[in-house]
Amino acid sequence: MTRPLFAHLRWAAFAVFFVPLLGCSGTESSGPAAVADGPLAFRKGCGRCHLPPNPKAHGADEWPGVVARMQTHMATQGKAPLTVEQRAEILEYLTSHALGAS
Ligand code: HEC
Repeated sequence: MTRPLFAHLRWAAFAVFFVPLLGCSGTESSGPAAVADGPLAFRKGCGRCHLPPNPKAHGADEWPGVVARMQTHMATQGKAPLTVEQRAEILEYLTSHALGAS
């Protein structure tokens, strides 16, 4: 008498606990890789007004000028400026992944 009900509960428990896990599997490595890449200073500091740019958008010689212009945008828009360390980390990432840099 009670056995069919018990069996149903087991399947219900299975569904509740395991199906959501299966639903999430496989999504970890997908997503917008270009935007998620790079050090935290870059993803945060360069993603406040637009999406963080693709490092291949400029050559290594152009990035310092672009970042300097972005710093003027930060000043005129009242956003917190980059620290010296953040700027160095961002430029290190951008120039080493820039257009023409392997
Ligand atoms: C205060 C807001 C703000 C922040 C923070 C910001 N940007 Fe920008 N960005 C802009 C604006 C406004 C433009 C469009 C005008 C221009 O190009 O100067 C722009 C355009 C760009 C462009 C496209 C134009 C070009 O020269 O290729 C790139 C690339 C770029 N930003 C990179 C960056 C990087 C790298 C950072 C982090 C250091 C950053 N931005 C942080 C406001 C911002």
